[in-house]
Amino acid sequence: MKLHAGEPPLGGRSHAQPKTTKIVLIIIFVTLVLLTIIPVFYPLLGYPLYLLRNSSSKPSSTYDSDQELQAASIRISEGENCDIFSGEWVPNHDAPYYTNTTCWAIHEHQNCMKYGRPDTEFMKWKWKPDGCELPVFNPAQFLEIVRDKSLAFVGDSVGRNQMQSLICLLSRVEYPLDVSYTADEKFKRWKYTTYNFTIAYLWTPHLVKSKEREANGPTQTGLFNLYLDEYDEEWTAQIEEFDYLIISGGHWFYRPSVFYENHQVVGCHFCLIQNVTDLTKFYGYRKAFRTAFRAINSLENFKGITFLRTFAPPHFENGLWNQGGNCVRKKPFRSSETVLDGDNLELYMIQIEEFRTAEREGRKKGKRYRLMDTTQATLLRPDGHPSRYGHWPHENVTLYNDCVHWCLPGPIDTWNDFLLQMLKMEGVRSYQERLYSVDRKMRFE
Ligand SMILES: *[C@@H]1O[C@H](CO)[C@@H](O)[C@H](O)[C@H]1NC(C)=O
Ligand SMILES: *[C@@H]1O[C@H](CO)[C@@H](O)[C@H](O)[C@H]1NC(C)=O
Ligand SMILES: *[C@@H]1O[C@H](CO)[C@@H](O)[C@H](O)[C@H]1NC(C)=O
Ligand SMILES: *[C@@H]1O[C@H](CO)[C@@H](O)[C@H](O)[C@H]1NC(C)=O
Ligand SMILES: *[C@@H]1O[C@H](CO)[C@@H](O)[C@H](O)[C@H]1NC(C)=O
Repeated sequence: MKLHAGEPPLGGRSHAQPKTTKIVLIIIFVTLVLLTIIPVFYPLLGYPLYLLRNSSSKPSSTYDSDQELQAASIRISEGENCDIFSGEWVPNHDAPYYTNTTCWAIHEHQNCMKYGRPDTEFMKWKWKPDGCELPVFNPAQFLEIVRDKSLAFVGDSVGRNQMQSLICLLSRVEYPLDVSYTADEKFKRWKYTTYNFTIAYLWTPHLVKSKEREANGPTQTGLFNLYLDEYDEEWTAQIEEFDYLIISGGHWFYRPSVFYENHQVVGCHFCLIQNVTDLTKFYGYRKAFRTAFRAINSLENFKGITFLRTFAPPHFENGLWNQGGNCVRKKPFRSSETVLDGDNLELYMIQIEEFRTAEREGRKKGKRYRLMDTTQATLLRPDGHPSRYGHWPHENVTLYNDCVHWCLPGPIDTWNDFLLQMLKMEGVRSYQERLYSVDRKMRFE
């Protein structure tokens, strides 16, 4: 604090009434001291005091829309410094909150009940962060928060999986209208008319410009050209109008690909082309995220918030996806039973590193980035995939045992619990920023 002796903080008026000035100075001093000290004693760093209300006694697994809406406040019980992304799955007998008959938005290949999945326990869990509660998704509250806003899912079919989960979770309040500007299923738009809220899905499995070079390739899943330093304008040209982006990616980088930079082949991933160096999928993954974030940072008119939804580990066991691997577990892991390692760890770390760099660069341009760090919670759900219940048994599909996508209802409904919680925190943040700007004005005016 800089209040120099003899320097009138509020301009020249002070000379006229020295006594009042002294009192004013004392009041200002006390206020400033309080503003400085409060964050020290409240680790929530200036969050509104209603957030500190004790509500840990209320079981948040029981869902009551009206009651929760009336409360209309953010419940962060005892978890002032709580990392919502670190925790365990606990039983939740109230779940699921929708079914394949109440929600039409479930993608065929994720409609596991339709294809005869016999067990239902995988739907009945909720995420319990260490040290606090993650409230169960409240659709009415979500829609209030996003009124007059727009949200784009940028990525692949796992991103679409989350979008469809969101539409299903919101379906208890409202179904959206299809307002897509194209018949192409890769670019969908949905509008919640009562709330003037738009959801978009922008398909970009590699995040950068890419092209299928051969339909088959070494693994019969296509060989792709990835232009690692070129924007995929199918999405980058569209995002300026959005308030929120949820960007994600991963599984397509496992496919064979040839990497281009500066219009030259620089290497590849499992392309088996003579004289082309195998740089691994990790190389392509890192460069793709770097370019995607560079695109976002370069968009002058983009004022939204970018959420990186981190890598969702697949759960093939006893073989790779094309070698009979499958996911047949019926229960979540406890956090002590598994660790993030191998490819999963590598891909996750690459995302975090590129995210941090982009965030640092973006800050200079007023860009906002948030980490939706779903990897740990997702790692613990080997039981949530379609496995062989993503299609009829006689159907000939590429991913016969699907251990990549997620049954709906299912564990990734929790990604939207995280989303709602993070949107609430944005409210807290903007309150905090207002508080700080008032504070700053008092200091420097
Ligand atoms: C907060 O809630 C917990 C759990 O119900 C209870 O044990 C505790 O006494 C409460 N604290 C206050 C200050 O109300
Ligand atoms: C929903 O799942 C049931 C099995 O639980 C199945 O019989 C039905 O065909 C499915 N309905 C739709 C619309 O997918
Ligand atoms: C709907 O939201 C958009 C922003 O997403 C805003 O520009 C527009 O004015 C809103 N429309 C109404 C009718 O409030
Ligand atoms: C690969 O490189 C070797 C040595 O530089 C060269 O002799 C050969 O022709 C190249 N093969 C192809 C297919 O370009
Ligand atoms: C499945 O389709 C692939 C490619 O179309 C074909 O090569 C394969 O023989 C088919 N498998 C069966 C069991 O029909």
